[in-house]
Amino acid sequence: MKKRVLNGMRATGKLHLGNYLGSAKGMTALQETSDHECLYCVVDLHAMTTPYDKVLLQHTTRSVIIDYLACGIDPDKSALFVQSHVTQHAEFAFFCAMMSTVARCSHLPTYKEKVKQYPQHVTMAMLNYPMLMTSDILLYKATDVPVGLDQEPHMEIAREVARRFNADYGMDFPEPQRFITKGQYIPSLTGEGKMSKSVEGSYIALTDDLDTIRKKIRSVPTATVAGGEMSPSVKTLFVLLELLAQNECAQFKKAYDDQTLKFVELKDALSDAIYKELKPIQTKRHEIESNIPYVDKVIKEGAEKARDIASKTVREVKEKMGLLLLR
Ligand code: TYM
Repeated sequence: MKKRVLNGMRATGKLHLGNYLGSAKGMTALQETSDHECLYCVVDLHAMTTPYDKVLLQHTTRSVIIDYLACGIDPDKSALFVQSHVTQHAEFAFFCAMMSTVARCSHLPTYKEKVKQYPQHVTMAMLNYPMLMTSDILLYKATDVPVGLDQEPHMEIAREVARRFNADYGMDFPEPQRFITKGQYIPSLTGEGKMSKSVEGSYIALTDDLDTIRKKIRSVPTATVAGGEMSPSVKTLFVLLELLAQNECAQFKKAYDDQTLKFVELKDALSDAIYKELKPIQTKRHEIESNIPYVDKVIKEGAEKARDIASKTVREVKEKMGLLLLR
């Protein structure tokens, strides 16, 4: 039996370098193994748990699918679909919600952040976010989830819910684990917190051209003289260098320690390395973008495959939880 992999990406616009290094890289790595069955979805319902633009949502949903394809997700190897097209995600989330408490979900750091960010929109859907994510994962009895470090609190809740279902209702949910990549935590270009779509100036978008990347990297704050304790933003530069230009990293680090480093040289070398990584993705994205019927065919076929598995799990759960089912 193959192990199952499930991943979700919110439909909130184009992806950034953090999404790519922390998650998409793990997704492509797992897809190339022979012992994993991979299912990857754009979580449009999750995008609706905070204020969103209803005119843009359809566009951003398709755009994330295109990003996945451009990053190397191969629809012959992995099912690619949209969460809301498989209605079992919302249905099963209701049952997952019975396995956790309001106290548990309201203490999550991600929930607290969102309450701060959107004080006028603290809805039941926002509180239920981790239950919907748990539903995404358990529906497929997934063992591996290629997400970044920031998702660990959600993974812990998913494991708790799995244990509860197994203990109380005799289900056989595996306890899902995070599949960890080297880029599991990409810090912000500002040096404060993680690289994030919602913080302007913190990220490199996968669609940025060399000029834009150079501008963004050049504006990362650095001291005039190198050496001594690194500031958080200088650390960010070295984290990216280590991941994307490993062969140049040691030489820049030595120059930093010797206080001979010219930051502009490091920044331009890093910009080139980032662009080298992103260019093939951008070329592929360009090709795929012009073939929307192909993209929609991929999404439809992916949903069929996902629905097949998800409907069996929901039926099993309903049966074990004592609901009346007619043949
Ligand atoms: P989302 O859409 O915020 O992010 C998508 C993925 O990108 C990773 N990521 C990062 N990794 C490293 N460094 C960063 N700075 C960085 N920023 C983002 C995230 O860890 C994530 O893997 N709750 C999820 C979406 C979700 C989901 C799921 C994930 C819903 N259902 C089921 C897995 C399985 C989220 O908000 O991801």
